[in-house]
Amino acid sequence: MRAYELIAKLSSIVTPKVYALTSDLIPLMPISTLLPAEAGEGILVGYDELGRPIYLDFEKLPNAHGVITGTTGSGKSTLARSLALSVYEEGVRVLFVDPHGEHCQFVEKFGGISLDLRARVLDITQPPGISPSQWSLELSKAAKHVLSLTESQRAILQDALLEAIEQGTLERALRYLEARRHDPLLEELYVKVRTLLKPFMRPCLNLEELLNNELVSLVLGGGALGLTYEHSVFLTWAVLAELEYFMRSKGVRSSLELVVVIDEAHRLFVLGPENVLVRAFQETRKFGYGFWALNQLPSQIPLEVYQLVGFLIFLPGPKEYVDELASLALLSEDDRDFLLFGIRGTGIVVRQGDPRPRRLRLAIREEAIIR
Ligand SMILES: Nc1ncnc2c1ncn2[C@@H]1O[C@H](COP(=O)(O)OP(=O)(O)OP(=O)(O)O)[C@@H](O)[C@H]1O
Ligand SMILES: [Mg+2]
Repeated sequence: MRAYELIAKLSSIVTPKVYALTSDLIPLMPISTLLPAEAGEGILVGYDELGRPIYLDFEKLPNAHGVITGTTGSGKSTLARSLALSVYEEGVRVLFVDPHGEHCQFVEKFGGISLDLRARVLDITQPPGISPSQWSLELSKAAKHVLSLTESQRAILQDALLEAIEQGTLERALRYLEARRHDPLLEELYVKVRTLLKPFMRPCLNLEELLNNELVSLVLGGGALGLTYEHSVFLTWAVLAELEYFMRSKGVRSSLELVVVIDEAHRLFVLGPENVLVRAFQETRKFGYGFWALNQLPSQIPLEVYQLVGFLIFLPGPKEYVDELASLALLSEDDRDFLLFGIRGTGIVVRQGDPRPRRLRLAIREEAIIR
């Protein structure tokens, strides 16, 4: 045996065997489950179980899109107002798509305006920053989903809308279809489209005027013009598409400039994964806008949305609601219990790039609460 082998053997006898280094045990210690406190950047969303602030940092998130889920009365609209106020104070424009006008009071309190599209008709033939052919395609897709049209009916409607947009009057589209009514399929199309377009014939407002304001609530359901559910969904689609094209037409930008809060987003989600909202979510941050969708039922939201958005916030709800969320494999048992037994003003936030859902006491701003 060589000398160094002898020394190694002797030392293994006299030196106790090391089974684990202290540092190896760190993952087993409770302290290791604590994440470091966050740098205070972005907007405050709430406090974790240790009372540490948790932020939504739109500079760091891959996009500024978000989804807030919760059963009726859980506080979605209130939370959205609270977060919106924080980005507004940072110089971001905020627009609420507000089917029932419940954000008007808040918007007006902060010097913004409410635009009631039931009284002031939005011009859907003059979208800024988009060609007539793109826009006729867009509107025909919206009509297809809202009116359950076949693909061939949609294509004919697209041609009719193209003429209307080029000539600056929606009546042209109806005349185009009327001239083809002898075909029974087109007769059905004509009747459906006439009902859909009727309230938009005498426009008095365009999107650019609307965006001259920093804080807007866009009310668009029911009311004097007799907008039906279909009208309201069609209009929401058109407004979101206009906004999307408008922001794109301004070119690539690095910071967040516009947040659109879409209340009752199920009206679009139920139209399936091809709708304007899902498409907007697919867009990265580069055009400076974020769409925040508020929705009651998690199962109505196309699965890919959960993977696309920069942040998700789940508010508490009953068992069926929590089961739906858990079936999307996003939540642990503890998370489930937190939502099931959670009180108003609590919720779970999941941010893209951070795999751990955070259980929070939400930082709801007093100004956002409407009693
Ligand atoms: N954190 C809170 N503190 C105090 N009151 C709150 C809080 N969050 C919500 N509320 C109150 O609870 C009620 C319901 O809230 P909100 O309208 O935001 O719920 P929602 O989820 O949007 O409901 P819906 O699905 O019916 O639109 C409101 O009266 C609101 O003022
Ligand atoms: Mg609400």
